[in-house]
Amino acid sequence: MQKLSSWKPLKWLPNSPLQTLCFITLLSIFFFFISTIINPNFVSNRLNSFSSHGFPPSSLHHQISNLQTHLGILLQNIHSEETDSSVTPSSFSDQVLRVAVLLDTLADTLSAPHGDPAIATIETYRDPTRPEETEIECYEDEQEERFVKSKEVLRYTNPKPNKLLDGKRKNFMDLEAVNPSIGLGCTRMTVDLDRYSTYKPYTSCPDDSDFAQKLMLRGCDPLPRRRCFSRSAPNYNHPFQFNSSLWIQPNDSNILWSHYTCKNYNCLVSIDTKNKRGFHKCVDCFDLSKKRWEEVPLNDPESAEISIDEVLSLTQTPIRIGLDFSPTTGTFAALMRERNVTIASATLNLGAPFNEVIALRGLLPLYVSIGSRLPFFDNTLDLVHSTLFLDGWIGFELLEYVVFDWDRVLRPKGVLWLDRFFCKKEEMKGYISVIEKLRYKKLLWRIVTKKDRVENELFLTAVLEKPLRV
Ligand SMILES: *[C@@H]1O[C@H](CO)[C@@H](O)[C@H](O)[C@H]1NC(C)=O
Ligand SMILES: *[C@@H]1O[C@H](CO)[C@@H](O)[C@H](O)[C@H]1NC(C)=O
Ligand SMILES: *[C@@H]1O[C@H](CO)[C@@H](O)[C@H](O)[C@H]1NC(C)=O
Repeated sequence: MQKLSSWKPLKWLPNSPLQTLCFITLLSIFFFFISTIINPNFVSNRLNSFSSHGFPPSSLHHQISNLQTHLGILLQNIHSEETDSSVTPSSFSDQVLRVAVLLDTLADTLSAPHGDPAIATIETYRDPTRPEETEIECYEDEQEERFVKSKEVLRYTNPKPNKLLDGKRKNFMDLEAVNPSIGLGCTRMTVDLDRYSTYKPYTSCPDDSDFAQKLMLRGCDPLPRRRCFSRSAPNYNHPFQFNSSLWIQPNDSNILWSHYTCKNYNCLVSIDTKNKRGFHKCVDCFDLSKKRWEEVPLNDPESAEISIDEVLSLTQTPIRIGLDFSPTTGTFAALMRERNVTIASATLNLGAPFNEVIALRGLLPLYVSIGSRLPFFDNTLDLVHSTLFLDGWIGFELLEYVVFDWDRVLRPKGVLWLDRFFCKKEEMKGYISVIEKLRYKKLLWRIVTKKDRVENELFLTAVLEKPLRV
């Protein structure tokens, strides 16, 4: 008997339920195309009906090419399954699901009485203030047409009219409809966008958080997926009670490990696997015994590392709420929490479950990329802290947008703590000139040589106070 866990390469005949599923899907696709070939009139009639309605048939072409892409991924999965253990049965079934949904949509399109249902959706929600022909033109323009390929994205981003109240249109915040949004970057990667937004509403979302993060990093943020159930670890248990949760390793079974190299918490901490883990930016992050900002020498002018208490002693203003923008599992936020300060920890999942661990510790994770405007209102936070994140990789132009956004959310007299920014010696001047554009008061300003590498690098640690601007 073959065990499911020893998933073997697909030979000529399926030998597990998932393989059977793949096999059946491929067979049905095969028969679908055979039937189309046998009855070519059907498709050409459809194409004619599109043309007679004034819609180009490219949406159909697109759907077929999309289907081909997904079939390609599926076949590649089956092929690489022999060697690549990251291709799990669940990624197979996700891919099979995607193909099934695409077939569904295609069947819908071919049997719809008036053109593409996606276009029909647009028509239903058409903004009455816009002239009709503009709308049609949209679909003839290549860029616009590309943008609206995915039915689910269209459905999602179309304005959602508010309900009528007392026979009148309900006006909420001066608007009669809500416009759900997606990141502009999404429009530059329509094939990936389609892949991401192909899912069956009301069922479990595809297990593809790593793919979602890749899209976010390329500017597709926010992402267009709002109608499926996110996957959790199958044996999720209660997290630990607060306070003890801050410093205890979370339970392995509370983390969905599928997309991480490590498959348990000990691996994240282990020296042996350090090189394989893929988060060199934060080697000790998962070691919850390290209380970094408490284990540094006080008032050492040679040290780029300064303690939380030293920083807090530099300012008279109350520090109660803030943001840590760093590769972090929340250790800074935990130490601040013990000082009754609430810190949101903004980090991506850099090849490991950073956000999950922050949350399991009872702290607030903020899943945003460096390219996003922070979700805080102007002049609200007491503190922004960033450790070992912005360093020599960041361009001056991006740095300017980043520090100006930090400035926006900091309140007057709020504190910006740049914790060990580092770069090559000759680059430091350029970075400093960007930081100095904020014209903050320097509560502490320390530039020291970074000693852990042969290269000629410097650390800048700065504690800066935002002026009152009126
Ligand atoms: C961890 O989770 C598992 C599965 O939910 C549970 O059986 C176990 O008791 C948990 N361990 C701790 C220390 O809470
Ligand atoms: C939190 O833990 C500390 C020691 O780790 C303890 O002194 C304190 O009373 C705890 N606070 C709460 C609210 O449980
Ligand atoms: C934090 O707040 C608690 C409850 O108000 C208080 O007992 C504790 O002394 C405070 N801790 C610090 C470090 O201020």
